[in-house]
Amino acid sequence: MLVSAKEMLDKAKAGHYAVGQFNINNLEWTKSILLVAQELQSPVILGMSEGAAKYMVGPKTVAAMVKAMDEELGITVPVALHLDHGSYEGCKKCIEAGFTSIMFDGSHYSIEENVAKTTELVAAAHAAGLSIEAEVGSIGGEEDGVVGAGECADPNECKAIADLGVDMLAAGIGNIHGKYPANWAGLSFETLDAIQEKTGDMPLVLHGGTGIPEDMIKKAIDLGVAKINVNTECQLAFAEATRKYIEAGKDLEGKGFDPRKLLAPGAEGIKATVREKIALFGSAGKANA
Ligand code: 13P
Repeated sequence: MLVSAKEMLDKAKAGHYAVGQFNINNLEWTKSILLVAQELQSPVILGMSEGAAKYMVGPKTVAAMVKAMDEELGITVPVALHLDHGSYEGCKKCIEAGFTSIMFDGSHYSIEENVAKTTELVAAAHAAGLSIEAEVGSIGGEEDGVVGAGECADPNECKAIADLGVDMLAAGIGNIHGKYPANWAGLSFETLDAIQEKTGDMPLVLHGGTGIPEDMIKKAIDLGVAKINVNTECQLAFAEATRKYIEAGKDLEGKGFDPRKLLAPGAEGIKATVREKIALFGSAGKANA
C-alpha cells in the first residue's frame, strides 16, 4: 500500500522504534525489500537516489514499477516511495512522477537558502500529499555523487528547518555514507540529544545506516531517531552472494547462467540484510500499529 511516510514515522517516533529506508537499484532490490516488509508486517520506505533514478531510466519508470509491483505482489503494509538526497529540480520531478515522499538535501546551501528552498518544496510536497524530509549538516562520505563533509548539525539550524513544517529531519551527527573507517569517532549523541531537545516530536533521520554498531543504533532510536537509511549493506550482501555463486561455477552448470538463477542468491542476500535491520530497528509487526 503506497502512502506518504508521515503517519508511519509519527507512529515510530511515538512508539520508540525506527522505520528502515532501504535504497533500491533495480527490480530485484525492490521486490526483495517489499517481500520482506510484508513477511515481517513492517512499514517500509523505498529510497531512490538521483543516481539510481538515472540508472533505472528515470523517476516515472521507478514510480510505475513500484506501484505495479506493490499491487501485483499484494503488499498490504505501508510503503513510501521516497526520493533520497533530492536536488530542488529532482524533488519537483518526483512530485510529478507520483512519488509519495521526497527528501530535499539543501545541506550544502547557506542556511538562508536551505530555508527558502525547503519552504517552497514543503508547500509543493504537501499540496500533492507527499511527505518531505530536509537536511541540516551534511552526511559524510559520498553517495551517488552527493559528497558531504560529515559535520555535526547546529541544533538551532535544525529547529529553524523543522519549524518550516517538514515531516522528518536528517541531521548530521558524525554519520557517513558507505563503510565507516577504522578510526571513526562514532555518532555524536550529544548533538543528537541537543537536536531532539530543540525539535520535539519531529521524527529524526539517521543516514549512513551501514556498519553502525547495534548499541549505537538502539541509543539513537532512544534519542528520537525514527527513520534509518541503509544502502551500502544491501549492495555488499548482493555482491557477496553473487560472487560466491560465480566462484562456485554455478553459472556454468546447466542453465545456471539464466539471470533468474544468477541473480537469485543476491536477492536472498538483500532479503537477509533487510530482515536483520527490520528486527534491529523494531518495526516488525508495526504495519497496523
Ligand atoms: P549507507 O549506504 O551508508 O547505508 O547510507 C545510506 C543512506 O544514508 C542513504 O541516504
